[in-house]
Amino acid sequence: MKALVVGSGGREHTLVWSLLQSPKITEVVCVPGNGGTATLPHCRNLPLNVSDFEGIARFALVNNLELVVVGPEQPLAEGITDYLQGQGLKVFGPCQAGAQIEASKAWAKALMVEAGIPTAKAIAFDDEAAALAYLEQQGAPIVVKADGLAAGKGVTVAHTLDAATQAVAEIFSGKFGAAGSQVVIEEFMTGQEASVLAVTDGQTITPLIPAQDHKAIGEGDTGPNTGGMGAYAPTPVVTPALMERVQREVLEPAIATLRQRGIDYRGILYAGLMITPAGDPKVVEFNCRFGDPEAQVVLPLLETPLEEVMLACIEGRLDGLEIEWKPGAAACVVVAAEGYPDSYPKGMEIAGLDEVAETGALVFQAGTRLKGGSIVANGGRVLGVTGLGDTFEAAIANAYTGIDKIRFEGMYHRRDIGYRVQGIAAG
Ligand SMILES: Nc1ncnc2c1ncn2[C@@H]1O[C@H](COP(=O)(O)OP(=O)(O)O)[C@@H](O)[C@H]1O
Ligand SMILES: [Mg+2]
Repeated sequence: MKALVVGSGGREHTLVWSLLQSPKITEVVCVPGNGGTATLPHCRNLPLNVSDFEGIARFALVNNLELVVVGPEQPLAEGITDYLQGQGLKVFGPCQAGAQIEASKAWAKALMVEAGIPTAKAIAFDDEAAALAYLEQQGAPIVVKADGLAAGKGVTVAHTLDAATQAVAEIFSGKFGAAGSQVVIEEFMTGQEASVLAVTDGQTITPLIPAQDHKAIGEGDTGPNTGGMGAYAPTPVVTPALMERVQREVLEPAIATLRQRGIDYRGILYAGLMITPAGDPKVVEFNCRFGDPEAQVVLPLLETPLEEVMLACIEGRLDGLEIEWKPGAAACVVVAAEGYPDSYPKGMEIAGLDEVAETGALVFQAGTRLKGGSIVANGGRVLGVTGLGDTFEAAIANAYTGIDKIRFEGMYHRRDIGYRVQGIAAG
């Protein structure tokens, strides 16, 4: 079977790699892909825009690519699944109506309230004056969110009323385009964050192993937020008992309520959780796709072939599938270009990629491209190195041993990925 993966980040390199672990997958085409997917055996890149649904459909049909996997949220929110399915293709990723669970935070909140899912209290405003009046009344700390997709930059956790007011003004100033036509103001929650990704065929919903990521650029989780500087799985913060509650209180009600609304949601449902100091799971947000870098630690531990899981979701057979996992732990350390998440240079040649294999660690490239036989940096998050091991210590050490082989000008990575789970046994 041949597959097509849509996207160009570390998540998509991981999806391609994971699909190719299966003996049934002979070839993968990545649209548009990166330097990693350009050089991976049995994979090639196709330089189309992820929003070029017609081009993607035509290529997949002509070349008999039987499975299409959509990595990023943007094309899902634009309806890529509906379009490609209409052309007779098998697509992993929810329909446009379902993708609203990520593409509109106000819509997702309303769904959570209707479903009785525990989450921060929130109100959506499309009027700036009303939003500001509400802020005054609530006070800080408070959280201000642009409603729509903002590439991870639309949320301000405001510790002062001033910061909150500024965030509201910024959103209504048009900085986020249509994504900022509404603002969601929500109660500030404390606790530890964790990600529970689940796969669903619209009826059955099966959680994957839980993960945690490090969003901040700086060590000790300080400084501005990024797309993610590292991750690890299976995080012990989400105990089996807690997972049970997430299944019952979050995942199942979400799918049931989507179904009541006539939405046949199939693909990944990703619950971003806050585990409160009392130990209760509360939803921060839902995403409609794999996390990046969560995919880089969850997929390498998947024992069941990925395409089997995906086809079971697409074909409504998830009920009969037992998803199996490899023992041990995985940790991913992201390597960024100097200056990220602000402006950063591109084009630096990356050395040592081939040497990483000797360490047993896996390199998943993100912002890279192939240029005249070399891999060069082409984005803020340049690549991730995933280490594996029997324990978190071993997995983390493996990732850093891998990173030591890699060299490029101005490379930056955090040295404390996984500090919360050091010394804790892996599931
Ligand atoms: N209600 C909240 N209380 C405390 N922190 C929050 C809250 N909502 C969001 N955050 C913080 O902001 C981050 C980004 O918010 P999120 O809703 O996940 O938006 P996005 O991922 O789309 O940027 C979260 O990972 C969390 O750290
Ligand atoms: Mg988030």
